[in-house]
Amino acid sequence: MTYTEGRAISSSQRTALPSHAFLYKAAAVSVLLLSGSLTAEAGTCDPAKCVFPACVCPSVSPPKGLDPKTVPQFFTLTFDDAIQSQTVTPVAQIMSPHKNPSGCPIKATWFAQIMYSDFALIQQWYAAGNEVADHTMTHPSNPPAAEIIGNRKAINAFSGIPFAKLNGFRAPNLNYSKGTFDTLAQEKFLYDSSTNAVTENAYWPYTLDFGLANDCWTGICNEAIAAPGMWEIPMHAIMNGAEPYSMDPQLFAPAGTIAGLLKDNFNRHYQGTRQPFGIYLHPVHIKEAGAMYNEFFTWAAAQKDVWFVTNQQLLEWMKNPVPASELAAQEYMKCNMPAVGKEICNGLDDTKAGAIDKGLLEVCNFPDGPWSTCYGCPKTKPTPEDPVPERVVAAGTAGARTPVAASCAMEWWDPVAAQCLCSNSTCAFTDIATTTTPVTGTPTPKPGNGNGNAAIQLTGSWASMGLVAAVAAGLAQLL
Ligand SMILES: *[C@@H]1O[C@H](CO)[C@@H](O)[C@H](O)[C@H]1NC(C)=O
Ligand SMILES: *[C@@H]1O[C@H](CO)[C@@H](O)[C@H](O)[C@H]1NC(C)=O
Ligand SMILES: [Zn+2]
Repeated sequence: MTYTEGRAISSSQRTALPSHAFLYKAAAVSVLLLSGSLTAEAGTCDPAKCVFPACVCPSVSPPKGLDPKTVPQFFTLTFDDAIQSQTVTPVAQIMSPHKNPSGCPIKATWFAQIMYSDFALIQQWYAAGNEVADHTMTHPSNPPAAEIIGNRKAINAFSGIPFAKLNGFRAPNLNYSKGTFDTLAQEKFLYDSSTNAVTENAYWPYTLDFGLANDCWTGICNEAIAAPGMWEIPMHAIMNGAEPYSMDPQLFAPAGTIAGLLKDNFNRHYQGTRQPFGIYLHPVHIKEAGAMYNEFFTWAAAQKDVWFVTNQQLLEWMKNPVPASELAAQEYMKCNMPAVGKEICNGLDDTKAGAIDKGLLEVCNFPDGPWSTCYGCPKTKPTPEDPVPERVVAAGTAGARTPVAASCAMEWWDPVAAQCLCSNSTCAFTDIATTTTPVTGTPTPKPGNGNGNAAIQLTGSWASMGLVAAVAAGLAQLL
């Protein structure tokens, strides 16, 4: 059962962008507005009232007046829609060959819908150090609140991911309204990433204290969106001259043309004011473009100070920006994997047996496709009206799976034994960063890293610990 968000949707996303004629006009207006200062702040954001770090005005320049040449070039790779074996496979193929400057595997954000997703694969994507964000339950345009709220509830219940980590949102078909932002603000989301940025409004992430400054041609910037402290992470279109390609750029021109455009657009950011550079993909559309993306990621990763990050990592940096030279040392950039020592249902291949959560997943059968979970099958499929239906095996009865205890991290929680295998800083970790430079001197054990640097010698690559094994495990469970 494959869920395909077809070309029709991609083209509606494109028509959600200004027409060429409009863009030319917009460009002319921007030139006038920007002629005084290249770092002019947009819209009604008043820098005197918008005080860092609680509030950040839309700006093409890095926060705190930092010199662009000293800041990291962030690369935000995102995926949308269902997380299922068919979509995880092409994603693993374009991610697993690449590393950040720290030696850690590159990270990405998946805006996951519930329909056709496998909750165990959502958990595995998160356990591998990536971000899961909200893309509603059934993918409606201009989604009702229940679609947004139900997504987090279901993922929390059936994938074990804490609410606090499920705090980003992208509107299906990039179709949102002021009401969408009202819901996000009420539900205390950290950020939205549904708006488009073209060359003239290619802003760094900003807070919504003074409303939106992207997609203004729709009138949305005049709406009184009041979401103080909530971030907007604009989606930077790949520009082909004046024509923006918002998502899946490979669908709109031959591979050779796109490969050139990706480099030109990346360079505009990298040699300019280093706004995060993004590639936003639907995994079902990657297909043979995988080779082109792998080549482009290899090229980009070879440029100095380029980091592929999740949206949450990007916002950690925004709140406390450090020079590129200090990024690797930040806690939120580490790639420590829990060393549990026995196979528990936590989304990881704890015993390095080549299969994640082997024999521990429950397979739940519903008419639109079976999915698996560590946290007990529900009696009915999750819906916006009832995102967390009663379990087949009721809590407290034999064989029931237990939700993650509040004091335990999901990676350490055994839902079968209802036991937390570690709840303090003495937990053993494996640092899976690989370096090409030999480590010299005496390895210094790090706090919270029971294995110290010795673990580096033992590392598995991401491919052996992460998604490739996840796919095998997921498929094995489904067959
Ligand atoms: C957004 O969704 C609404 C509700 O489904 C629809 O009426 C509207 O046409 C959509 N807008 C765009 C630009 O597709
Ligand atoms: C940390 O947790 C482990 C096992 O969960 C326990 O044996 C140990 O005593 C704890 N240490 C501290 C300092 O609380
Ligand atoms: Zn979508």
